[in-house]
Amino acid sequence: MKVDVLLGLQWGDEGKGKIVDVLTPKYDVIARFQGGPNAGHTLEFEGIKHVLHTIPSGIFRKNTQNVIGNGVVIDPVILKKELDALIPFGVKVNEVLKVSRKAHLILPTHKLLDAASEKAKGKDKIGSTLKGIGPTYMDKTGRNGLRVGDIEAADFKERYNRLKEKHLQLLGNFNFDTHQLGALEKEWMSAIKEMQNLVLIDSEHYINACMKNGQAVLAEGAQGSLLDIDFGSYPFVTSSNTICAGACTGLGIAPNRINEVFGIFKAYCTRVGSGPFPTELKDEVGEKIRAAGHEFGATTGRPRRCGWLDLPALKYAIMLNGVTKLIMTKSDVLSGFDSIDICTHYNYRGEKIDYLPFGVEEGELEPVYESIPGWNEDLTGLQSADELPETLNNYVDYLEKALETPITIVSVGPDRSQTIIREAVGV
Ligand code: GDP
Ligand code: IMO
Ligand code: MG
Repeated sequence: MKVDVLLGLQWGDEGKGKIVDVLTPKYDVIARFQGGPNAGHTLEFEGIKHVLHTIPSGIFRKNTQNVIGNGVVIDPVILKKELDALIPFGVKVNEVLKVSRKAHLILPTHKLLDAASEKAKGKDKIGSTLKGIGPTYMDKTGRNGLRVGDIEAADFKERYNRLKEKHLQLLGNFNFDTHQLGALEKEWMSAIKEMQNLVLIDSEHYINACMKNGQAVLAEGAQGSLLDIDFGSYPFVTSSNTICAGACTGLGIAPNRINEVFGIFKAYCTRVGSGPFPTELKDEVGEKIRAAGHEFGATTGRPRRCGWLDLPALKYAIMLNGVTKLIMTKSDVLSGFDSIDICTHYNYRGEKIDYLPFGVEEGELEPVYESIPGWNEDLTGLQSADELPETLNNYVDYLEKALETPITIVSVGPDRSQTIIREAVGV
């Protein structure tokens, strides 16, 4: 069997967690391949909302294995909190969760460095989630990092102290206050002890053995393609490859083993943190979308910036990922707009273009819109594709044509059950 990949096509928060949970019964293994606790993946079912940061979104389904792959960066303290939150739901963690020994560890000093770097950038800050993601990936590529497998080594504490000392020097250069470090370290060391009780594996061998044994694997992305370290709006990006290629390096899957690529997008756009956002609506329309979509970050609680759908950006993401099937979420949020705008091009330095140019400054791309009629119906109780209002079907048809890719699922609410599979297209 080959591996399917599910990933976000915008700036994150497209609804990946919800859709992975919906698709999980079709898979034997769900595996995260990059990112870390900067992610917040929300799942809702049986009236309860769960937010996962490090743990794959298949964790609540029976008979599914969940793997945290080598490309992920792990904060043991956050992982422990997530594991504790699973206890009331009877999840037998060591039967269903495996962690790669090659995943890198986020140290307390990585978090301090993240905060120090953002503070030093002032108004040019990235808007990082302050979870230590950037500094941890810097240590990974700088070949200084600590990995999960290192916690099994006799000299782990010494290795930790060596890296901590390096970080303290850097923090000194930033003149950054480190008085909380003692408390953070205590919590971290105790979480490391708990981590020693988890099932640690060489996940590349495990995933490849699963494929060989005919098991179906779904790789779950974090963040979104427009936050990719190479192809996002650099430097306002995260520090990992969020695109499909990241599933190869983050799990040890050969490129020719990738099968379907599910690309998720919201019926509109959102972004948290700084950086260019051509279709951002800084007016009451943006406010209305934020209120209707409860657009506040699942990890940081920050209000998300909202705007209309951006086709050039979406086409770029589809190209980079080789998306075979699209999934559109939050369609219900757009109910109640007389018309819906779709950005088809940009005006840029006197030219009409349909791609994202290099080094674009905020506000430099002026979106050119096409308007189509909106819908007023409440979609949240709909059960099947033939109940979708005609105007929404027109929106879907328009997008499928423009994006040259089928839309297989239309999500109409946060709950697992509020998911319309377009049978005619097939998932
Ligand atoms: P992720 O990071 O891609 O997993 O997405 P988040 O969980 O950060 O953000 C998506 C938010 O939208 C969550 O609060 C979900 O519960 C919610 N959500 C997902 N799909 C839908 C949908 O179709 N309609 C509505 N109204 N909410 C949705
Ligand atoms: P999920 O998986 C939305 C954004 C941050 C910031 C930038 C860099 O839930 O979709 P980082 O902490 O990675 O150094 O922050 O990336 N960001 C996200 N935005 N959803 C996410 O994850 C994000 N993870 C990081 O807001 O702008
Ligand atoms: Mg999220």
